[in-house]
Amino acid sequence: MTVQTFTPSATKAASENTVTQPTHTTDVSMKKLYIETQGCQMNEYDSHRMADLLGDSHGYVLTTNPNEADILLMNTCSIREKAQEKVFSELGRWRKLKEQNPDLVIGVGGCVASQEGDNIQKRAPYVDMVFGPQTLHRLPQMLDQHQAQLEKPKKEKIKLVDISFPDIEKFDFLPEPRVEGFKAFVSIMEGCSKYCSFCVVPYTRGEEVSRPLDDVLAEIAGLAEKGVREISLLGQNVNGYRGETFEGGICTFPELLRLVAEIPGIGRLRYTTSHPLEFSDELIQCYRDLPQMVSHLHLPVQSGSNDVLQAMKRNHTIDVYIDKIAKLRKVRPDMHLSSDFIIGFPGETDEHFAETLQFIKDLDFDHSYSFIYSKRPGTPASELPDDTPEQVKKDRLAQVQQVIKQSSIDKTDAMLGKIERVLIEKVSDKDPNLLIGTADNTRLVTFIGDAAWVGRFAEIEITEIKTLNLVYGELLNLEPDVA
Ligand code: SAH
Ligand code: F3S
Repeated sequence: MTVQTFTPSATKAASENTVTQPTHTTDVSMKKLYIETQGCQMNEYDSHRMADLLGDSHGYVLTTNPNEADILLMNTCSIREKAQEKVFSELGRWRKLKEQNPDLVIGVGGCVASQEGDNIQKRAPYVDMVFGPQTLHRLPQMLDQHQAQLEKPKKEKIKLVDISFPDIEKFDFLPEPRVEGFKAFVSIMEGCSKYCSFCVVPYTRGEEVSRPLDDVLAEIAGLAEKGVREISLLGQNVNGYRGETFEGGICTFPELLRLVAEIPGIGRLRYTTSHPLEFSDELIQCYRDLPQMVSHLHLPVQSGSNDVLQAMKRNHTIDVYIDKIAKLRKVRPDMHLSSDFIIGFPGETDEHFAETLQFIKDLDFDHSYSFIYSKRPGTPASELPDDTPEQVKKDRLAQVQQVIKQSSIDKTDAMLGKIERVLIEKVSDKDPNLLIGTADNTRLVTFIGDAAWVGRFAEIEITEIKTLNLVYGELLNLEPDVA
């Protein structure tokens, strides 16, 4: 696992498992908070909210240095076993810090907290607070409780564990999101009710609950006023969004997209993740009608074999996926597609795998997150017999990754001579005459321009391919500021 500094331009899919750290401010006189974020964009979003909450309630400022922190929070991921094990090895390191500084407060949140509950403190008794993805808004109270019982004798202390699912209450207690640069994530729903047979998410984050429409729109309008130009709508299955309207009706995901696109200032719209089952014709029509929607879609399919899809309880066939993508490419021929794949699902034969490989080639994915199946306790798939040797799974994964990597390279190469719409994000550190922006397909685009253009969209002709993720270009047109 790598440790990296959070930037709002991070466009990782839900499956990527890195460790990130929200941006920080450091002032020696202030109390300091260190947050380690593992897993998906939902967790990144939640970590920002934790920082905002403890900043507002207790005046904590973020630090990137755990050694100088007064509170250490770990926002965990349990999607695969490896990610879960990482939690306890990292906590072992934090224990040493607490030995040096007994006042240090340690909290564990996220999906491992949700799954393990008070087992966390059984295995790591130096952890002071355990909270789930749906109770992170109660962190300030938990911290007060922790401080209030510091003086109490050990037997009077209560364990601070709250991993309940108090519906959508979390959203009602959160301060305004922090704006960093021109991009922002907006969570529109929590949890998942799909219950794919391999996945822990419905158990750790609870069932799907959508945020009310007005809350989402007000948050985005506020962000736009502060200069945000690109919004990424977040949720496990955003296209299952069913937000309550002010009049008591229900707003669907395509309806939400149309409303967001009307908000002045929002020049670009992304979302992650969506489910093929609910990838409706109405959603495809949004791609036809709304220029703000990027020509880049992350639509996880998991396998290219109908037998495996059935065993995974994905509830659709390969043909359904192929048909939807064909319809989408009719309205957006330049659509870049990415997916998640699980390799070595219990019972996956050589034939099943060959189908997946062929499917990946046929669909021409730009990018994908692929992982070997990991058995998760409590999920139906964990009961299935799995006799595929580990080495076979590793070989299959390597093949998938090789095919997809080549496809990514081809996609970048194909940008040469094309015109890309770019959100200009900053001036290059290396050369003040160079600007850096992102294309719809997330590639970085560098070109000569004026620092005053930062925050605006431009049409750039691509003139040189530098690396897989970096291209050079020339300005063709600078759009007026959308605000
Ligand atoms: N909501 C998304 C998935 C969220 S989980 C969807 O519609 O599919 C993110 C990814 O983690 C999944 O797409 C899957 O590829 C991977 N994943 C989930 N459980 C896994 C497991 N038990 N083993 C390996 N990969 C898993
Ligand atoms: Fe997991 Fe399937 Fe939901 S992969 S997040 S149960 S759509």
